[in-house]
Amino acid sequence: MSIVQKAHQHLKHIIKPGDITIDGTFGKGYDTLFLAEKVGVAGKVYGFDIQPMALEITQELLEKKNLASQVELFLENHQKMQNFLPRGLEGKVKAIMFNLGYLPQTDKKVITKPETTLPALDLSLALLCPQGRLIVTVYLGHKGGSEEWEAVQLWIDRIDLEQFKVAYEFPQPQDPTAPKQMIITKMF
Ligand SMILES: C[S@@+](CC[C@H](N)C(=O)[O-])C[C@H]1O[C@@H](n2cnc3c(N)ncnc32)[C@H](O)[C@@H]1O
Repeated sequence: MSIVQKAHQHLKHIIKPGDITIDGTFGKGYDTLFLAEKVGVAGKVYGFDIQPMALEITQELLEKKNLASQVELFLENHQKMQNFLPRGLEGKVKAIMFNLGYLPQTDKKVITKPETTLPALDLSLALLCPQGRLIVTVYLGHKGGSEEWEAVQLWIDRIDLEQFKVAYEFPQPQDPTAPKQMIITKMF
């Protein structure tokens, strides 16, 4: 099972029809599509990415699958998500996904960076509802990947463990370049 599938497997029984969810890096839309299927027409997915190509690909995928009506995509930096999300979502979002790194098969220079990723992760913690999940998947195989992983680890160290539970998914611990995943649950 790929690390992306592991995230979907975890969220499969947590997200219910009508839930609100966020994809912080929609890329080619695989996570957005999954979230849109789970929340159904009564729910909502808000997606963010900074590449016009990602927007085109994801929009097309959602339309093909007839799932575009429950999704709102923003061609915007996830650091600014608060400016685009409806007011009053704090404490109401069931699942937030961040798949860090670069868009596969495209320019490896456009990558997520700690200076924007970490503020977006901070915002995400505030948006989660009780028992909501923030899943962060970090890739290390590209230039800038290990720096981002280090920054995410330091960010994790600062999380209030009375309010949040952190679980790690390191599928290939012997391989230092293998992707890492953290599942953060808001306890109350
Ligand atoms: C690993 S890909 C995401 C893959 C995606 N989850 C999917 O299912 O295809 C990382 C994405 O993050 C986007 N990205 C980079 N910096 C960003 C930022 N500051 N805000 C939002 N998206 C960003 C990239 O354009 C890229 O599409």
